[in-house]
Amino acid sequence: MKVLLTGGSGQLGQALLAAAPSQLGGQPLQVWAPTRAQVDLSDPLACRTAVLESKPDWVLNAGAYTAVDRAEQEPQLAAAINQEAPASMAEALETIQSQTGRPARMLQISTDFVFSGDRGSPYPPDAPIQPLSVYGATKAAGERAVMECLGAHGCAHILRTSWVYGPVGHNFCRTMLRLHRDRAMRGEPLAVVADQVGCPTHTPGLAEACWRVLELQTRGEVLPLILHWSDEGAASWYDFAVAIGELGVATSLLECAASVVPITTSSYPTAARRPPYSLLDCEGARQLLGLAREHWRVALGRMLEGLERNRSEP
Ligand SMILES: NC(=O)c1ccc[n+]([C@@H]2O[C@H](COP(=O)([O-])OP(=O)(O)OC[C@H]3O[C@@H](n4cnc5c(N)ncnc54)[C@H](OP(=O)(O)O)[C@@H]3O)[C@@H](O)[C@H]2O)c1
Repeated sequence: MKVLLTGGSGQLGQALLAAAPSQLGGQPLQVWAPTRAQVDLSDPLACRTAVLESKPDWVLNAGAYTAVDRAEQEPQLAAAINQEAPASMAEALETIQSQTGRPARMLQISTDFVFSGDRGSPYPPDAPIQPLSVYGATKAAGERAVMECLGAHGCAHILRTSWVYGPVGHNFCRTMLRLHRDRAMRGEPLAVVADQVGCPTHTPGLAEACWRVLELQTRGEVLPLILHWSDEGAASWYDFAVAIGELGVATSLLECAASVVPITTSSYPTAARRPPYSLLDCEGARQLLGLAREHWRVALGRMLEGLERNRSEP
């Protein structure tokens, strides 16, 4: 089985590579994770060619334009990467399917930012989408393109997740560790938004869920078109920042934590609007995938322990 993994250098991509099983559907697994220099996702022709030439059984599209605020200034680039790239890869998979008669599938990773956040209860996969930002709109358009092209063949799969973080790459957790150190040293507080609620998701558990989707579908089990996956529980960015400080100190990663002050979204203006409440209802996916969801605070503690272990190892 051949999987073309995009975004292999990203935080989820690296976790996917680390967790790649040796087999898929009982057959040896080969993962090709091209770099940006090999396949530029802003070039639809390059995306199409990569798929047509490598003829994968799966495209696992973890590559994306993820700079939520910058996307407001670069809507065309965000659309090329988040919408046109998945569209052209899905079209190429459809071509392979019609040429070979075998299924050629795609798992498109998407986001809680496709929702407006005014529902007030966790979003089930079939809830209407209403993105508030360019990033959310381009991700929603990417979902639609993949579903329109491959959905009818049962070969399109969308997995939405939220607030992704891990030991590598750009994420809130790593930024907060740096800010806790910096502010604690200067004796200054750290102001963090407390009126946006979602769920942090640690990359290893998310990667496991992605591979599970590929395994079950390859074995011929039928999963819904759209799945939701995040860690368990709920948090505001403020809660997350406080926990990073507390667990950072408990794991000796931080000498001391800064005091965290809750603020409102309106007092921290950003270029992009974000949903105030974007919890995902993951119960269906939990049952279908047969995986336990770890509470976000437990997952966070494990990640910080791992960072501390790596730091203290020679
Ligand atoms: N981060 C979050 O909080 C979050 C939340 C919900 C959903 N998601 C979704 O989860 C998925 C993974 O996100 P992530 O946080 O792992 O993203 P990430 O760390 O920002 O990684 C993005 C990946 O996309 C690649 N990429 C971007 N532009 C490219 C281009 N023009 N050509 C080729 N590759 C390009 C990057 O390559 P380079 O290393 O070369 O830049 C990198 O490998 C995405 O679909 C994202 O929308 C993320």
